[in-house]
Amino acid sequence: MSYQTEYDRSMKDPKGFWGDQAKALEWTKFPQTILTTDTDGIGHWFADGEMNTAYMALDYHVKNGRGDQTAIIYDSPVTNTKRKYTYSELTDEVARTAGMLADLGVVKGDRVIIYMPMIPEAVISMLAVARLGAIHSVVFGGFAPPELAQRIDDSTPKVILTASCGIEIKRVIEYMPLLNKAIDLSKHKPQSCVVFQRPQCNAPLVAGRDHDWATLLAKSKAVGCTSVKGSDPLYILYTSGTTGKPKGVVRENGGHAVALKYSMKAIYNVDAGDVFWAASDVGWVVGHSYIVYGPLLQGCTTIVYEGKPIMTPDAGALWRLISEYKVKSFFTAPTAFRAVKKEDPDALLMKPYDLSKLQVIFSAGERLDPPTQEWLTEKSGKTVVDHWWQTETGWGITANLWGVEPKPVKLGSSTLPTPGFDVRILDENGKQMAANEQGYIAIKLPLPPSCMNRVWGDDNKFRESYLQFLPGYYTTGDGGYIDSEGYVFVMGRVDDVINVAGHRLSTGEIEEVVAGHPAVAECAVIARDDDLKGQVPMGLVVLKSGVTIDDAVLQKELVNRVREAIGAITCYKDTVILKRLPKTRSGKTLRKTLNKIVNGQEYQVPSTIDDPGVIPEIIDILKQQGFVK
Ligand code: COA
Ligand code: AMP
Repeated sequence: MSYQTEYDRSMKDPKGFWGDQAKALEWTKFPQTILTTDTDGIGHWFADGEMNTAYMALDYHVKNGRGDQTAIIYDSPVTNTKRKYTYSELTDEVARTAGMLADLGVVKGDRVIIYMPMIPEAVISMLAVARLGAIHSVVFGGFAPPELAQRIDDSTPKVILTASCGIEIKRVIEYMPLLNKAIDLSKHKPQSCVVFQRPQCNAPLVAGRDHDWATLLAKSKAVGCTSVKGSDPLYILYTSGTTGKPKGVVRENGGHAVALKYSMKAIYNVDAGDVFWAASDVGWVVGHSYIVYGPLLQGCTTIVYEGKPIMTPDAGALWRLISEYKVKSFFTAPTAFRAVKKEDPDALLMKPYDLSKLQVIFSAGERLDPPTQEWLTEKSGKTVVDHWWQTETGWGITANLWGVEPKPVKLGSSTLPTPGFDVRILDENGKQMAANEQGYIAIKLPLPPSCMNRVWGDDNKFRESYLQFLPGYYTTGDGGYIDSEGYVFVMGRVDDVINVAGHRLSTGEIEEVVAGHPAVAECAVIARDDDLKGQVPMGLVVLKSGVTIDDAVLQKELVNRVREAIGAITCYKDTVILKRLPKTRSGKTLRKTLNKIVNGQEYQVPSTIDDPGVIPEIIDILKQQGFVK
């Protein structure tokens, strides 16, 4: 089958194409209606099908003879632990954990927040919630209490599942003080919290609210799978947009299972029994789709890695796991490769390992920069494939379909649109741009299965945020171009989203925190290019008149504020005090111009600028402090 035949069919006959893919799964009731579209083009996939995602990912395989195959490998260099769960063991554990949640009153449609490190219990929790037909919302362990509080208020969970601690290389991060603070801050209070006590830290429990995981689990009984509609939510995952408030992306059970199952073969070329590893965290969409659901729906072995690409113990960590577990398809973010390249430029730490089982290396989360792609290709001798996706889609919008027809790799391109995604480059009036011309990357509606069609708790938000700008299209927030052979080049966000080490954050949200400092009158937080992390935020601040504060003191206080409000993953470090910000005559800060200046790119001063004299003044200050040459 050629890529083109596959793609064309998905465009001409989406119902036939996705209806056929749905047959690869065992439904309680196969959907009669494959796709319906609203008047404004929003698609609803498999809405009347009945199913359970955890059944499809676990019980189905046990029933079909995979019970003794390894489902999960837990590899934790930070605790010196390695453990395997077969499909039978994992199914039993999930069924009992679901029983534990049922004992706490969790039923279909209830929300459960999971705030956990990379341990098997995080995966077990997700699947247990799914087994009950309830909705999980995983919050990345690196988020600070106010971020967790926002998610508690928005998703109003009945139960929160957590662990006593996470481990960042050698540092034990206690979770309970963070959780307690978040619950203090939130208006909504969960009925119960269940705490998985780890040997590295025993967390004190709050009487009447908290329960010890092991004690509850010991009393619980395995429960079966609750059937849900294809359109019922499986999970809510919050992601940064352009505003300070994260958006709750709703993922529906039906479309999600069908798209992920399809992608495992079509994109990653793995079959049941193969070992697939996505080195990410279950707190991100990559972790949801390709640590948990995708590989398990396909009957693969997946790896839960509690470690880093470097420092646990060294830059050979990724190669060690690939070799030890015979990984066939591997996937991580460019930052991880850049970190490895920096520590081990000659890839000497790759040499002791047998990577012969590895077919392809996939990268996503941010643009794979050509030097890193070239380095990795040369050192590993493998094909390195970039693919582009978002929390909103849950799987690749563009990719190299390794299981259909591998296409030649073009450096800097995330290859071709994935079946189901009608990717266009448009100008701000919705006019299609010619080949190689940069514009807004948009996707013609309806979107394929798995893509979001609503924001949790806000019926209009999806339309407002994604559909209004270019009617008939979903606006991705990314800009780029398509070349004459149809290859897509994603060049970066066209909004205020910043990508730090593959972690998506909002500069608007960081700005709110910086602007809240008592000495700060106003500020602009912009994304500065960074060799390791891709981008890092930088604060350009104007002090309140009459306020004097030592630069170093302000710097330190702002770093702490951002860490406490959002989390250390923000990597906010640099602040520059300016006399004033460049503004248009109507008072809008010229962030794009600032961005270009700080990143040493060519810029044009817009004609709408209030006072052009401000630009040389800012460049002078940035030069003095070594931020621009
Ligand atoms: N819980 C608590 N804190 C966390 C955390 C977590 N789960 N994850 C990160 N942090 C903290 C780190 O400890 C660090 O804190 P510090 O400033 O006090 O040292 C800070 O957040 C920044 O972390 P990180 O971005 O991981 O930077 P690093 O310098 O420690 O490590 C890399 C650099 C490249 C190794 C790391 O960024 C990495 O592994 N990146 C890959 C990211 C990835 O896989 N993304 C997947 C999305 S697809
Ligand atoms: P997230 O929702 O956290 O997965 O972040 C999605 C955003 O990350 C996208 O909108 C892009 O800006 C960026 N991104 C992810 N993968 C790629 C890629 N392969 N190339 C370029 N940008 C990417």
